[in-house]
Amino acid sequence: MRTLVAGNWKMHKDNAGTNALLDAICKGAAPAPGVEVLVAPAFPFLAQAVQRCKGTAVHVAAQNCHEAAQGAFTGEVSVPMLGSLGVGHCIVGHSERRLYFGETDRVVGQKMSALLHAGIVPIYCCGERKEERLAGEHEAVVARQLEEALGALTTEQMAQVVIAYEPVWAIGTGLTATAQQAQEMHAHVRAWLQGNFGAVARRIPLLYGGSCKPENAAELFACPDVNGGLIGGAALDAATFLAIVHAAGHAPH
Ligand code: 13P
Repeated sequence: MRTLVAGNWKMHKDNAGTNALLDAICKGAAPAPGVEVLVAPAFPFLAQAVQRCKGTAVHVAAQNCHEAAQGAFTGEVSVPMLGSLGVGHCIVGHSERRLYFGETDRVVGQKMSALLHAGIVPIYCCGERKEERLAGEHEAVVARQLEEALGALTTEQMAQVVIAYEPVWAIGTGLTATAQQAQEMHAHVRAWLQGNFGAVARRIPLLYGGSCKPENAAELFACPDVNGGLIGGAALDAATFLAIVHAAGHAPH
């Protein structure tokens, strides 16, 4: 199983800031067997990111896409556009997209299909809100999200997907899920995958996201069902992000 560390830059960094961060990460990320490093800058900078990362150990992801191939959707970016740039991965269903832009699991499922059709790896985000965890509903909430967005995929399609568990209460709050909470949910996701797709479940990377930083990355990545991280704030500084990449390189599995 490969370990994946992906930096989600969200709506941060301008042109010069993007280039500086890309160059520092590319310079510092030595190829490590079994570790995949991804960065997801904002849309306007994807083309230059692909160029700058060429020949390095760093790959470029998008943060979102539209579900239609083309059309009158002002302000949107299609999957074929991303593919034509050489973008190989795309985050879908991030909780910020669900919360601020009204994305439902149905739309997220359509985006997944569009990406899989184009051969772009979807990084599918799921995760419960604070009140759902407090009510003990977190496992049921995540199972419902998985069912609605992934339930109709074929086993071959599922084999291409990366899943990120991002508890909403841990995103940007400094409150990280404990290694035990992360492992419990990841085992639950793995069991759901096993039940619905069989043996391929063992090959699907399950990333943890939510206030992941150098101080907690090693402990999280040591969990048997945590196969890396989706990193927000800590991905905006090269040394901090590279420290997390380093922790992934030393994970025991
Ligand atoms: P933070 O690491 O800033 O909590 O963000 C996590 C996230 O949302 C990554 O997609």
